[in-house]
Amino acid sequence: MTHGAWPTEGLSFGGDYNPEQWPREIWREDVALMREAGVNLVTLGVFSWGLVEIDDGRFDWEWFDEIVELLHENGIGIDLATPTAAPPSWLLAKHPELLPVDADGHRQAPGGRLGWCPSSPVFRRYAERIADALGERYGKHPAVRMWHVSNELGGGNGRCYCDESAAAFRSWLERKYGGLDELNAAWGTSFWGHRYTDFEQIMPPRGSTAAHSPALQLDFERFSSDELLEHFRAERSVLARHTDRPITTNLMVNTGDVVDYPRWARELPIVANDHYVIGADPHREQELAFADDRMRGIARDRGPWMMMEHSTSAVAWQPVNRAKAPRELLRNSLVHVARGADAAMFFQWRASAAGAEQFHSAMVPHAGRDSKVFREVVELGSALRRLAEVQGSTVERAKVAVLWDTEADWALRRGLKPRRSMSYSDEPRRWHRAFWRRNILVDVVPPWADLDAYDLVVVPTLFLVSDEDAARIAAAAERGATVVVGYLSGIVDPDDRVRLGGYPGAFRELLGVSSEEFFPLMTDEQVELDTGWRVREWSELLTTTDAEVVAGYANGPLSGSPAISRRHTGNGSAWYVSAGLEEDGVAALLDRLIEGTGVAPVLPAAEGVEVVRRVGDAASWLFVVNHGSEDEELTVTGHELLTDEPVDGRLVVPAGEVRVIRE
Ligand code: GAL
Repeated sequence: MTHGAWPTEGLSFGGDYNPEQWPREIWREDVALMREAGVNLVTLGVFSWGLVEIDDGRFDWEWFDEIVELLHENGIGIDLATPTAAPPSWLLAKHPELLPVDADGHRQAPGGRLGWCPSSPVFRRYAERIADALGERYGKHPAVRMWHVSNELGGGNGRCYCDESAAAFRSWLERKYGGLDELNAAWGTSFWGHRYTDFEQIMPPRGSTAAHSPALQLDFERFSSDELLEHFRAERSVLARHTDRPITTNLMVNTGDVVDYPRWARELPIVANDHYVIGADPHREQELAFADDRMRGIARDRGPWMMMEHSTSAVAWQPVNRAKAPRELLRNSLVHVARGADAAMFFQWRASAAGAEQFHSAMVPHAGRDSKVFREVVELGSALRRLAEVQGSTVERAKVAVLWDTEADWALRRGLKPRRSMSYSDEPRRWHRAFWRRNILVDVVPPWADLDAYDLVVVPTLFLVSDEDAARIAAAAERGATVVVGYLSGIVDPDDRVRLGGYPGAFRELLGVSSEEFFPLMTDEQVELDTGWRVREWSELLTTTDAEVVAGYANGPLSGSPAISRRHTGNGSAWYVSAGLEEDGVAALLDRLIEGTGVAPVLPAAEGVEVVRRVGDAASWLFVVNHGSEDEELTVTGHELLTDEPVDGRLVVPAGEVRVIRE
């Protein structure tokens, strides 16, 4: 049951391969080591523009042909990348106007990457030409299994404020609003008397001592995302003239979106992600699961997605680049597979000796073959081959959805807000963590996802919501789901205008409450609820109009007034959590929320032992990842694939190890 045209037989394993950094002898060693490790797919050419198109319109294909053939002869598939993330030096020297400009008017200097303005027609022409040349030369090559447009579009050129971008922004606004009256009304430009009388007066939110209109900022985010998506589409249509293989691009889905990934994902035949663990994150294992649950939530039919880049050990761009402990590489990669990735790909194959990322880990580290990292890479390759049968299966259907919307994120992040030091991802992640700790599977989905299959729908800080999405969330409760709305949800409409008459405007009726004033807590301020749960960051003056009070304030300025409410509606219920609960409060509330519902752990296991099930046509597989320092014993029957041993009711998963049981 292969899902679409998956580029490899079984799971994909490999990474970015940059042979241009090395002499030919190393290429031969590379393919030998790739075979030893079982690599079956490499991303080729991703930063090689300047070495292929050596001058304007002059190409050097010789070395590229040679490496393509070498990989092909060795049975290694190619994910062929258009190299447009890194324009050549000759191009930037010839057209410095295509370098992006920041909000304060500084043009980026050449020498980095993704240094191009997404609205530059000159850049678009050059990018299309190199994509076309690659497509023409390798479009029918049997080694080329898929195409990879550019690299992490938006990571470096996510926002450009140059004059060309400003003109493109205006055209985008004209297309969106039709006329100035509509735009002025939507943005509320009467405020500060900013009414526009000509589209030419509209500027991107460039540097200013006073705050810009939040609506303008939100539209600029949308525009920037759309411009980059247009760029993807342009390269894709050039490639599509030469190939029928899947054409995708690598997203950066973790905890904050540069572009609107959920909406982009609808265009991608294979959704691919780059995920890097943040060493300083105290909850890094959960963050990894969270990003994966987001990927599954945006992948087609929740089907397999591709882990396009992660790291074997340290990265090079964090303040302290933490190395992965022994076995952590295996655990990380197999968590991605457990949560729906049919690939474990890395940046990069061989650690660079020179260049900006010379201290980034790789599959072959500086130390070479005789190293912890390479041994674990080989072991991972062998594990993935043993798990080949899971390719094309999907993760068991979750009963819990946590909603995430990029536009809500942007709307909450931009402009003056009642509490500025808030990150959109905090609440979704806090909720997700409570489920993760109990091994209850969660899909993190956009608000327009089909909510029918979920028994519990959590709506954390969905600051911006459309009427349609709010109605579908309400319909989920009517149908029988438990819906939990968190504070700062439903506050503004898609024009970023506050919904009047009491917060949370879009959900007031569903929840049977009305909140008349926000009471954000000062940093370090804490109050308590009558349940004993601690509250930080957020509270509000709430009245229940048609709901029962689940918890109220025991102290603080709102002492005696409600904080958490519940309303029965249709066959389900709608809860409002108007307070910023600490983790223990979220956990305790979660127990009450799942009481009497079908929501349960995949398998009960100790905290730190992650259990996820993948399901295929003829079998299902239980992935058990023991992040802890104690062995874990579980009751399972089946066949363990990594050790190739039968499991007869009792399975011991040693500390730090992974087991996968065909049930
Ligand atoms: C990714 C990027 C790679 C490499 C990697 C380092 O964001 O796509 O090219 O820079 O980060 O962690």
